[in-house]
Amino acid sequence: MNLAQKKGSHTAQCKIVITSNQGVRGGRIFDLKSTVDNAVKSCPSVRHVFVAKRTNESMPMGKLDISLDEVMVGQSPVCAPEPMDSEEMLFMLYTSGSTGKPKGIVHTQAGYLLYASLTHQYVFDYTPGDVFGCVADIGWITGHSYVVYGPLCNGATSVLFESTPVYPNPGRYWETVQRLRINQFYGAPTAIRLLLKYEENWVKKYDRSSLKTLASVGEPINHEAWEWFHNVVGDGRCPLVDTWWQTETGGVCIAPLPAEPGAEIRPAMAMRPFFGIQPALLGEKGQIITGNDVSGALCISKPWPGMARTIFGDHQRFVDAYFKPYQGQYFTGDGAYRTEDGYYQITGRMDDVINISGHRLGTAEIEDALDEHPDVPETAVIGIPHEIKGEVPFAFVVLKESATENQRAVVEEMRHLVATKIAKYAVPDHFLVVKRLPKTRSGKIMRRILRKVAMQDTSNLGDISTLDDPSVVSEIIEAHKRYRSHAAKK
Ligand code: WTA
Repeated sequence: MNLAQKKGSHTAQCKIVITSNQGVRGGRIFDLKSTVDNAVKSCPSVRHVFVAKRTNESMPMGKLDISLDEVMVGQSPVCAPEPMDSEEMLFMLYTSGSTGKPKGIVHTQAGYLLYASLTHQYVFDYTPGDVFGCVADIGWITGHSYVVYGPLCNGATSVLFESTPVYPNPGRYWETVQRLRINQFYGAPTAIRLLLKYEENWVKKYDRSSLKTLASVGEPINHEAWEWFHNVVGDGRCPLVDTWWQTETGGVCIAPLPAEPGAEIRPAMAMRPFFGIQPALLGEKGQIITGNDVSGALCISKPWPGMARTIFGDHQRFVDAYFKPYQGQYFTGDGAYRTEDGYYQITGRMDDVINISGHRLGTAEIEDALDEHPDVPETAVIGIPHEIKGEVPFAFVVLKESATENQRAVVEEMRHLVATKIAKYAVPDHFLVVKRLPKTRSGKIMRRILRKVAMQDTSNLGDISTLDDPSVVSEIIEAHKRYRSHAAKK
């Protein structure tokens, strides 16, 4: 099968859904099955829905539903492996880009598995017999590569963590480390930033002597979080590796190797490319930037085994998104700095993608959800820094004149739209209603201005002469002032 040219829609066209009746997380119960039922209504390709009983709550079973627990009873515990071509699809995972709908990133059998297992071994200093603890969601690429595929390829014991870092209390991770004797602990900076606000005793009272390697992923880790993770959790004795990679790269691409004799690890820096990865920094004119102490667009110059092969059903989009921006290079979407001694430090996204608690989200997706509201002709969403979550969405919203009286209700409805269409974490922290958005004469929203307004950094707005009507800027600044004073009173 040629994955890229598979005909039909660009969506997965899946036939089977496996779900639970309910989900349990952080002491809360939420309905999964009803969410799936709603989604399945618009997916005619789905023939069966297997439902596992995670809680005792009974669920009405529909036409397509099959109880997983009941059918499993009659199954053989042995499942013969199916030989596959090395380039057959292993899985697809949807991820956000700066434009359009999420992309179905395709990973294949041999290359991905090789890369996931090799990086699992070297980046985390895994040795046979270790208990590997990656606390990421399985539904995220981090969970795919380092809860499931990498550890299982290496015959490792892999921990499945279903809860949150603060349930039932902020000692949850470290109690789990003690109870399961975890050797490698892999988590996200957002959780570390949350935990470092609590008493150190929540860490110290548990035995963490089993820990060998600590690792971080998903967003830049700030110095304070790095130091706390290293010194408080790891007692300063475990290497802490900052691992940079993406859904598209399949596995870790830039990270220090902790087992290498004499290897230096610097705080808050991904540092060095993994075997076979050739990073390059590209300049605005598309030129390769050589030398050290320089910044640019982070690209990878040569293919590597774990790289995504295509976007499901839309190979042209794959080429356009990753290989068009810089000739002959894979473009990551991130910017990076190469230090004086040649180490890499990731500086953040260069496109309209934001990172909320490690969740990667195109601002266009949030805008799409908001724009579905009948009273909302136009919105612009940007990311602003947040102490714990890294970034949070800030929405600028234009309302129909008839709806301005009802602002509060419309905002509530927009929150609901984002929560149901995307996820709760995607709901903007701020909604600022404005009369219009700052647009260039060619109709492009000048997000730079919106960022400055949201950050209250309006002393130097840069060149606004290309705006269709520059007076919009003071209008938005005034609206933001009113919004802030209103929020302060609350
Ligand atoms: C960001 C997650 C800084 C980056 C595995 C990348 C990071 C995006 C780091 C991919 C890191 C991931 N330092 N930024 N160590 N790790 N990122 O696809 O912007 O969910 O492009 O994959 O997260 O997010 P994704």
